Amino acid sequence: MTVTTPDSPIKHQIPSYLDPNNIGPYEIFLEQVERVTPYLGHLTKWVETLKRPKRILVVDIPVHLDDGTVAHFEGYRVQHNTSRGPAKGGVRFHQDVTLSEVMALSAWMTIKNAAVNLPYGGGKGGIRIDPRNYSQSELERITRRYTSEIGLIIGPEKDIPAPDVNTGPQTMAWMMDTYSMNVGRTATGVVTGKPISLGGSLGRSDATGRGVFVTGAEAMKKLGMPMEGARIAVQGFGNVGEAAARIFHGAGAKIVAIQDVTGTIVSEKGIDPAKALAHLKATGKITGLEGTEEITRDEFWSVDCDVMVPAALEKQITLANAGQIKAKLIVEGANGPTIPAADDLLAEKGITVVPDVLANAGGVTVSYFEWVQDFSSFFWTEEEINNRLDRIMQDAFRSLWDVKEQHGVTLRTAVYIVSCTRVLEARALRGLYP
Ligand SMILES: NC(=O)c1ccc[n+]([C@@H]2O[C@H](COP(=O)([O-])OP(=O)(O)OC[C@H]3O[C@@H](n4cnc5c(N)ncnc54)[C@H](O)[C@@H]3O)[C@@H](O)[C@H]2O)c1
Repeated sequence: MTVTTPDSPIKHQIPSYLDPNNIGPYEIFLEQVERVTPYLGHLTKWVETLKRPKRILVVDIPVHLDDGTVAHFEGYRVQHNTSRGPAKGGVRFHQDVTLSEVMALSAWMTIKNAAVNLPYGGGKGGIRIDPRNYSQSELERITRRYTSEIGLIIGPEKDIPAPDVNTGPQTMAWMMDTYSMNVGRTATGVVTGKPISLGGSLGRSDATGRGVFVTGAEAMKKLGMPMEGARIAVQGFGNVGEAAARIFHGAGAKIVAIQDVTGTIVSEKGIDPAKALAHLKATGKITGLEGTEEITRDEFWSVDCDVMVPAALEKQITLANAGQIKAKLIVEGANGPTIPAADDLLAEKGITVVPDVLANAGGVTVSYFEWVQDFSSFFWTEEEINNRLDRIMQDAFRSLWDVKEQHGVTLRTAVYIVSCTRVLEARALRGLYP
């Protein structure tokens, strides 16, 4: 047990399995909990629950490579909290995955699921691997062995993985099949983000971008910003950024800038996302699209716009560029795109931020629909899915905005107040076992 005193240099109780001198991404989450603690009232008694993941599984994944040699990979599954329901969260394949990162991502899933009131806790998984260096059959064997190893703790009523960075419907199909083989029945509800033909849900591919649009549109209404002709700058033109740009464009807004890994384009007349996507598919890059000009990567941040949508990577909005941002509203499609110090600067500048844990919750919301549909083996139309998604995101946004107004805090802090309260209320009601 670590006991901290008011004079102790250790602000948080750091578990022995993290390096106190280099805590990694989990430190950001610990700071976020620290900020929200004064608002938790009688639930403060339970706040340590949030700082400690419920369960961590670290696994060794040995596989035969195509050349006959045996390689070993490090795999993780972290269940941060299950007070409100089974753990839920994606699986990431990336060479830089660490335990601290998976812990942080699982904790953010706890907050996100509670923010939109899904009956889930938070979980996340990962394998420390650069998938570009492996063949499809090697990736299949790695995925299957990983699934079998974490099979001890996952299941449709225990913990439901989904895709994340570098994993997709095929990965989920292998995970579903492996789990099903091990339990002796087809268990479609063990993962979400599956191909439609294996119990996947319509509307899943656009769901995160759609949620970004819906929460962005709600925020614009609150701020008195008309949608027609609103100037939107989007960073990232993948699953989230492309869908968000397309839906904003369809609603009458003007996409004035798009940045992706290949470059940055701007147009005063507005960019048609369908043409940008066709150009990207044809040429492999976003730059060179007819009617647009190329600007430097850094110039993206000072583009004259009303709404900025960071939908690429984490840690994009920093102290180096936050001061240049002209937008009145930032809608975080990516996870963790704004570092905490830059967040404070944006608040000082009066820029409203719809935080990731709310703005990009559309994906997990439709994952929840997929899981419900799998349980009942009854599948909904895309229209039903979009209507239900819109309603959940709108209701969540409006109630969280009220909390922001009531406490005079940022929307991010409001989300943490509501989510942490929901999780800790469940904890307090359930009590401690035994
Ligand atoms: N896909 C989902 O359902 C979902 C759900 C919640 C959160 N997110 C988060 O949204 C973000 C984007 O996810 P995605 O699924 O769209 O990924 P993706 O791989 O489909 O797209 C990523 C985009 O970011 C661009 N990009 C990469 N590096 C860049 C750089 N240095 N500068 C500018 N652009 C860069 C890429 O070119 C690409 O357009 C991630 O943070 C992810 O965790 C995704």
